[in-house]
Amino acid sequence: MEQAYKAGKVKAIGLSNFTTAQIQEILDICEVKPAILQTEVHPYSQEQKLKEFLARENIVIQAWYPLGHGDKVLIQEPVFTRLAAKYGKSNAQIILRWHIQAGNVVIPGSKNPDHIRANFDLFDFSLSDTEMAEIAALNTNKRYYTSTPQLLESYAAMVPPVDEQK
Ligand SMILES: NC(=O)c1ccc[n+]([C@@H]2O[C@H](COP(=O)([O-])OP(=O)(O)OC[C@H]3O[C@@H](n4cnc5c(N)ncnc54)[C@H](OP(=O)(O)O)[C@@H]3O)[C@@H](O)[C@H]2O)c1
Repeated sequence: MEQAYKAGKVKAIGLSNFTTAQIQEILDICEVKPAILQTEVHPYSQEQKLKEFLARENIVIQAWYPLGHGDKVLIQEPVFTRLAAKYGKSNAQIILRWHIQAGNVVIPGSKNPDHIRANFDLFDFSLSDTEMAEIAALNTNKRYYTSTPQLLESYAAMVPPVDEQK
């Protein structure tokens, strides 16, 4: 990736699912600093310590599973329902607005055109500090995805069918 960066073929290097220790390992040896870390972040797993580390290193965080992979228990938390009614938005929009105000780059997944449109419509309201704090209180470090050495090995060995897609 560094070779590709230096050759002008890529604009920035990102990491996915690295822990603080693994990021530090990269920072100790890299010539081109990673610009972004993609990892699981949502109101139940807010990764505050990791974010403080990344902020010190000037690395941006990008949240995957930003809506908890669509978990209805998360999306229907009473605080989101109350704020959705207050701002005339959906619960999902409140969660996405929280991500943006919390400094998370956020790319929700959706197969529903109405949801995709709604997920861009986040910039005509803002949550107060008190409301941000209420959402911060939902953190339980619950993750929806658990990595294992076996899974990591299978990803490392995976060869995507790139040629078939030409
Ligand atoms: N790097 C990694 O290891 C990694 C791992 C996992 C995921 N990711 C990436 O993260 C991104 C998001 O993941 P994800 O899609 O699984 O999780 P997600 O964005 O947290 O949740 C998607 C779910 O939320 C629903 N949803 C989306 N917008 C909504 C709205 N406005 N109102 C109500 N429900 C809404 C979707 O249903 P509808 O389709 O009905 O809208 C879908 O069920 C993807 O691009 C994925 O590739 C990366």
